Amino acid sequence: MPLTGKIAVVTGSSKGIGFAIAKEFAENNDAIVIVCSRNLKQAQIAADKIKGNVFADELDVTDDMSVNKFINRILYDHNRIDILVNNSGYQFDRNIWYKKFHEGTIEELQRIIEVDLKGSVRLSRAVIPIMLQNANTDCKKENKGGVIVNISSTPAIAGYTEGSPYNITKAANIALTKCIAKEYATNNIRAYTLALGSIATLGTIESMTQEERYSAAQESSMKRWGKPEEVAKVAACIADNSFSFATGNTIVIDGGTILL
Ligand SMILES: NC(=O)c1ccc[n+]([C@@H]2O[C@H](COP(=O)([O-])OP(=O)(O)OC[C@H]3O[C@@H](n4cnc5c(N)ncnc54)[C@H](OP(=O)(O)O)[C@@H]3O)[C@@H](O)[C@H]2O)c1
Repeated sequence: MPLTGKIAVVTGSSKGIGFAIAKEFAENNDAIVIVCSRNLKQAQIAADKIKGNVFADELDVTDDMSVNKFINRILYDHNRIDILVNNSGYQFDRNIWYKKFHEGTIEELQRIIEVDLKGSVRLSRAVIPIMLQNANTDCKKENKGGVIVNISSTPAIAGYTEGSPYNITKAANIALTKCIAKEYATNNIRAYTLALGSIATLGTIESMTQEERYSAAQESSMKRWGKPEEVAKVAACIADNSFSFATGNTIVIDGGTILL
């Protein structure tokens, strides 16, 4: 199978899109997957719902010490990391999302940046030396380097009438992908951004009124919400070696809303 033997870390995989990616990696692609939550019990509950080689661990991407301990545990148990999916996201907060740009506060922006941007930078910086080590020590060509996937959103590319703190932060994720792709391409470390439209996770759906949900669906050419599993299938594709001559790309998954 495409990801057999690969060690994959999916941040924020206790639920939603992260959970679907972890499940797809483990069940349909045979990866060894680390399911993460800030709460170990939640991570274990999620991991128990997935068949295959799955391990639960505790990770707060906003906390250096938590990241260091997490990385050390993985190295101790598995000795390498091949795939990192920076999926953790600050929860959908309608008080922030529906404010006009000029009404928002720096503190609100900071809260989102801490998780979605600084969290992704922190994890990538911790994992890249391990991926470089993979390149130095493993003689099998397909096991050198690694793959980093950053989760962004379509308003980061096309702009939007709401949610500016999220959109500003998610735009920076696209730049993060490009920095990694350019700096480490010769080390066989590839990086991608998944720019998502409306994906039906409980966190998003339950915070919206029926009318808001309907109008979000109508924005897409397919006139529907995407499913977390539809994101997970794409993540699994780019994590394997089929994408060996592509890096730094932004892959839009939004039912044909924004066309580049
Ligand atoms: N759903 C959409 O329509 C949509 C659209 C565009 C982009 N996205 C992006 O896709 C990603 C997943 O979205 P989702 O809808 O699946 O979100 P979700 O259901 O709210 O899940 C968010 C995940 O992030 C984790 N998390 C939050 N703060 C964290 C922290 N400090 N450290 C580590 N993990 C943390 C949560 O884990 P614990 O609470 O268990 O720690 C949870 O597993 C996010 O980056 C989001 O911005 C989603």
